Amino acid sequence: MCGIVGHVGCIGAQRSREVVMGGLARLEYRGYDSAGIALANDNGIDVIRAVGKLVNLQDAIDAGHPEDALAGIGHTRWATHGRPTVANAHPHSTPDGRFSLVHNGIIENADALRAQLQASGREFSSQTDTEVVVHLIQEAYDCAETPQWDGTIDGADEHTHSVGARLIAAMRQVTARLEGTFTLLVVTSDCPNIIVAARRSSPLVIGLGENENFLGSDVLAFVEHTSRAVEIDQDQIVAVTARGVTVLDQSGQRVPLKEYEVDFTSDRATKGGWPTFMDKEINEQPEGVANTLADRLDSHSRLALDELRISEDVLRSVDKIVMIGCGTASYAGQVARYAIEHWCRIPVEVELSSEFRYRDPVVTEKTLVVAISQSGETMDTIMAIRHAREQGAKVVAIVNTPGSTISRESDAVLLTHAGPEIAVASTKAFTAQVTACFILGLFLSQVRGNKFADEVADYMEKLGEVPGKIQQILDQGETVRQFARTMVDATSVIYLGRHVGFPVALEGALKLKEICYIHAEGFAAGELKHGPIALVDEGQPVIIIVPTPRRPELHNKVLANIQEVRARGARTIVVAEEGDSSVDEFAEIVFRVPQVPTLYAPLLAVVPLQIFACELATAKGLDVDQPRNLAKSVTVE
Ligand code: F6R
Repeated sequence: MCGIVGHVGCIGAQRSREVVMGGLARLEYRGYDSAGIALANDNGIDVIRAVGKLVNLQDAIDAGHPEDALAGIGHTRWATHGRPTVANAHPHSTPDGRFSLVHNGIIENADALRAQLQASGREFSSQTDTEVVVHLIQEAYDCAETPQWDGTIDGADEHTHSVGARLIAAMRQVTARLEGTFTLLVVTSDCPNIIVAARRSSPLVIGLGENENFLGSDVLAFVEHTSRAVEIDQDQIVAVTARGVTVLDQSGQRVPLKEYEVDFTSDRATKGGWPTFMDKEINEQPEGVANTLADRLDSHSRLALDELRISEDVLRSVDKIVMIGCGTASYAGQVARYAIEHWCRIPVEVELSSEFRYRDPVVTEKTLVVAISQSGETMDTIMAIRHAREQGAKVVAIVNTPGSTISRESDAVLLTHAGPEIAVASTKAFTAQVTACFILGLFLSQVRGNKFADEVADYMEKLGEVPGKIQQILDQGETVRQFARTMVDATSVIYLGRHVGFPVALEGALKLKEICYIHAEGFAAGELKHGPIALVDEGQPVIIIVPTPRRPELHNKVLANIQEVRARGARTIVVAEEGDSSVDEFAEIVFRVPQVPTLYAPLLAVVPLQIFACELATAKGLDVDQPRNLAKSVTVE
């Protein structure tokens, strides 16, 4: 939520502008209400901002002809405080134009700080929480009483050092006064060769280049220029020049750089010939699931999760599992619950991260919390993890983003290897998350002795067949797409599922809501008669996920549910297993999925629903990848 980019370098006159705009384009999925850029040079700082998508900012830059820069910062906004207007767009600057700043997060005590600043005569030009910070920075920078910072800044000449040290001192003093969450990047016209940044509970990574360095909300901001990245921890401050990166802890002491290699190339973050990122990511699911499964068995065919870092004794003592996540990630947890309870005979609860801590949940040191998140930066999930750990629970994070806050704040990490997910609507992350949860469940069943190693290997082998089966569904996608194009006038769609099909119904409905703006609801098929069936009248589209006929106790009931809605005039669209001809007479159209063990069926059944939503949004002429009001990484509560 909000994307931040920074660049300092001396290799080409327009380099900062190009790098920052390129980075913003890659981070636009994090917010697209407005965007802005500040370019610092020897004559001052040029700030250009525009409402709406990045293309508007590019037009404004082309019209404004900003000067060449030595450093640049940029921001793409998902509005929290104040409507998406130019005045509220970042960067925010001091009235004299000496300081410009971008911010991701929320300053919770902004109102009180603003009142203090206004009382001392400072004037504000926006309604944002961010603007107070740039005023505070200037106040602290100009104040002779601000305690000096007396360390050394890497890659700084004498002038850069003297300005940088004052800026660091100001940043330290200001961040100590801020409550809430933030990543902050500031530039000053006193010296355009340095960016000073800070973070608390919002993401920031540094990219290391040759005679230039980069800052970003995530590595996508700079991965086309360098694969060398540096993690920035909670409450650290960073000074970045073209030739050096200096990281300081809360006490102002220098800390060694935590450098790592980004393991994907920038072409993973392009559409690669697909019309949308969502299309591409739906089609990357065989690879995402296969990569998440890869290298999990040791030479004795035992499941080995070396990265798990929680002792087997602790895992054996677990008496309850709580899965937490938001949106699609929470539905992945709901799917996993059926499997983990069945395999491990441990009670599994699934809780929305945003509700978890307010329920005062019963969590002890015997509780295993599984936090699921694609971005690894979702604030609701971060807060839930902190709450769980305070109660003594162990937390395993299932994340798609190595080095993210959630992976760093958890006791153990199980990475999904879906690759970067850019489309706001989650697709390949979901199937990779479900896969990773299955791996975790099977590992627990092995460690706890619920399943023998050969049984686990058997389950893993069957899981290994899933990527090929997803590919079969993708290859037949045209049937789904054709049908989707006939549904452009739909105003409401109901999704029904039973057992593991229920969370698939919820996920299918979420996809339709978020990218097609069609009211959609997922229901447990058995719940229909307890209320929702009143919604069904002539022509109401109902999508039903039918379980395998090899589970007649489920299958027959869902067939009955189809007939109930059909009897009331519904149009029935059915997702059913290949060869299940019993559904044909009750369905306007059937989307076929190959046979798999029942618990794995969600990995397949969800795919036609993703294709359906993607194609319908395209047919409606909507922005598939960047739906209105949403942002990819939700870093506010
Ligand atoms: C829906 C979607 C969201 C996310 C949710 C959690 O398509 O993408 O519901 O699943 O915001 O995000 P992560 O997984 O990054 O924690």
